Amino acid sequence: MNSMKIGVIGTGYVGLVSGLCLADFGFSVTCGDIDVSKIERLNSGEIPIYEPGLKSVFDRVTELGRVTFTTKIDTLVRDSDVIFICVGTPPKEDGSADLKYVWQVAETIGKNLETYKVIVDKSTVPVGTARKVYDIIRSQLAERNMDAAFDVVSNPEFLREGKAVHDFTHPDRIVIGSDSERACEIMKKVYSPLKLNEVPFVLTNPETAELIKYASNAFLATKIGFINEIANLCEAVGADVHKVAKSMGMDGRISSKFLHPGPGFGGSCFPKDTMALVNMARENGVDSLVVSAVVDSNIRQKVRMAEKIKKAFGGDVAGKQIAILGLSFKPETDDVRESPALVIIPELLHRGALVHAYDPQGIGETKKALTESDADILYTADEYDACKGADAVVILTDWNQFRRLDLQRLKDLMKGNRFFDFRNIYDREEVEGMGFYYEGVGR
Ligand SMILES: NC(=O)c1ccc[n+]([C@@H]2O[C@H](COP(=O)([O-])OP(=O)(O)OC[C@H]3O[C@@H](n4cnc5c(N)ncnc54)[C@H](O)[C@@H]3O)[C@@H](O)[C@H]2O)c1
Repeated sequence: MNSMKIGVIGTGYVGLVSGLCLADFGFSVTCGDIDVSKIERLNSGEIPIYEPGLKSVFDRVTELGRVTFTTKIDTLVRDSDVIFICVGTPPKEDGSADLKYVWQVAETIGKNLETYKVIVDKSTVPVGTARKVYDIIRSQLAERNMDAAFDVVSNPEFLREGKAVHDFTHPDRIVIGSDSERACEIMKKVYSPLKLNEVPFVLTNPETAELIKYASNAFLATKIGFINEIANLCEAVGADVHKVAKSMGMDGRISSKFLHPGPGFGGSCFPKDTMALVNMARENGVDSLVVSAVVDSNIRQKVRMAEKIKKAFGGDVAGKQIAILGLSFKPETDDVRESPALVIIPELLHRGALVHAYDPQGIGETKKALTESDADILYTADEYDACKGADAVVILTDWNQFRRLDLQRLKDLMKGNRFFDFRNIYDREEVEGMGFYYEGVGR
């Protein structure tokens, strides 16, 4: 086993995947979290999130004794050579990133640091955070009259939920932002198993590394926002957004990726990171007209989907039974943060509709995310159950099992015939041929 000891603070989608994959690389890893129930579940062999492929990595590294889980962050700090900060950075009311968890961790590190360590910001954090983490640790050391050496590195993470294990082990690039040669050398060692795959390393200063993450997410979000706008225009003028997007994507300068129209992007990253970028620009006296527009247009896109449903019922959905297929913000995850479902369902309920909903993994998180007044949903055992007696079916997430529904069975089960395919996964003619009224996005 590699002798370097790694500590990972925060065992969410990023921290747990990073910790387990680093253990799989051969390091001895301690994963820490303040959430006692998460650590208890991990210690009893249960993965608290749904992430394909993660359980087999977990089983492998726990069997080999390479990973431990703890709530004792102070011990984790003292025992680790490299400490990854992977805590959440949720949005505040004003859209800026809430860094309270990062500051808490920095304080704990400062209170427990004794020997040289590399502190790694893996959470997505605004420019300047690595320097502030450094200052917090320094001031804690000063309070203790200690002069231990340490470096803070920005190492943003680009993994996608649903493909996190693959992405962590096959990244497009590793970004390391640090002014310290010593820290850079250690980080190169941490990621040395990826050298076999010739993964490029981008070595830069912390500010640039921090901005690379926001710029990347904002750009991808902009592509989605852009194609959604084109889709809306397609609807107005009778064009087919699929043909438009496909042809656009054939231009190598554009690329076909992230040009899929839909009900608005969700997730724990794009919505919050675009807002944080706008905020960061404002704080620095810079206009962010493009990204601001993306934030606004995405909010409107979700509302627009609810409007489409209402319009198909002549503006009144009161008493209509609507089957919602898909609650998570994308397939292969149980994450519902900022999911279109969390905007569309409350709006339908507010208008008096009866919502029956199904998602292969996202029901538990949806129950937690919706407030009591928005929670009057009947969750069903499967997609067909949700459609029993429904006036309309609405596909919000393109889980594979929603891609080839038995349309005849659906038709027989449903009372009405409205079919809203907000992921454009069906052929309009096929669905209409079965007697449904079909609406997609932009076609
Ligand atoms: N989820 C993604 O796909 C993704 C991808 C790339 C980057 N990121 C970024 O990574 C960061 C983490 O995201 P996530 O989705 O894993 O978050 P998450 O909410 O799933 O997990 C965060 C974890 O940190 C823990 N935590 C909070 N404060 C703590 C403390 N003081 N000590 C120990 N643990 C603490 C929480 O209990 C939680 O388990 C965010 O900044 C996010 O923007 C996320």
